[in-house]
Amino acid sequence: MNSAIVIKKFNLSIEGTKILTDINLELPKNQIIAIIGPSGCGKSTLLRSINRMNDLIEGLEYTGSITVDGDNILSPNTDVTEIRRKIGMIAQTPNPLPMSIYENVIYGPRIHGLKDKVKKDEIVKNSLERVGLWEEVSTRLDAPANKLSIGQQQRLCLARTIANDPNILLCDETTSALDPTSAKKIETELLELKKDYTILFVTHILRQARRIADYVVFIYFGEIVEHGPAEKIFGNPSDPRMKQYLEGSI
Ligand SMILES: Nc1ncnc2c1ncn2[C@@H]1O[C@H](COP(=O)(O)OP(=O)(O)O)[C@@H](O)[C@H]1O
Ligand SMILES: [Mg+2]
Repeated sequence: MNSAIVIKKFNLSIEGTKILTDINLELPKNQIIAIIGPSGCGKSTLLRSINRMNDLIEGLEYTGSITVDGDNILSPNTDVTEIRRKIGMIAQTPNPLPMSIYENVIYGPRIHGLKDKVKKDEIVKNSLERVGLWEEVSTRLDAPANKLSIGQQQRLCLARTIANDPNILLCDETTSALDPTSAKKIETELLELKKDYTILFVTHILRQARRIADYVVFIYFGEIVEHGPAEKIFGNPSDPRMKQYLEGSI
């Protein structure tokens, strides 16, 4: 398998409390990987480990390796800024910056030194097109981002991440603050985007995982109970806890 991410013997604790135990995963490229499991089981913590977003948590300790493009991103000499550019994150609630639509999208390339106006315009247009937002905002790029609807703001945040030219997108319940129509729009865009990106999508909504996932990882109390292609997990799960979760009894 052509893996985007390889996680080996990954253990994580906070203030001595074990949060993730012996995580071993090889995640396929250019697929949507749904990370599912009950609330508090460690989905966000696992996702945030993949771009070192947990680093600031006090009392955090981890062991093992997370390899992306041949490099262990947990190694102390990793360039964390570069990792977060390559592995972009879209949060649960839209978090546009207090600036215009245009400035939101170009924020990353601009702080990395891009000044060329033609190039900037091109990145803004391409990124907004890729999230299906260009048609809706092309005549008002200078308007404040917070004037957009919540659904549009979330697609703007996705465009802002894409403008950084990442390989991997980490989505943490990215549609859960949205109305069903806006949520479906994001799902549709992600299904297009997986041609070019590997997408990890945390969700506790099983129907959503069934709609979009190619590959499923089921976490329960900080352990991976089962993982594999979506048709196998949803059609013929092996572990009794996985079966119970799918039946809605845990
Ligand atoms: N910053 C933190 N400090 C202490 N405990 C935390 C912190 N973040 C998460 N946890 C704990 O780790 C466990 C997993 O949390 P989380 O990854 O957010 O779960 P999920 O996303 O599956 O709901 C929970 O028990 C939670 O309380
Ligand atoms: Mg979470």
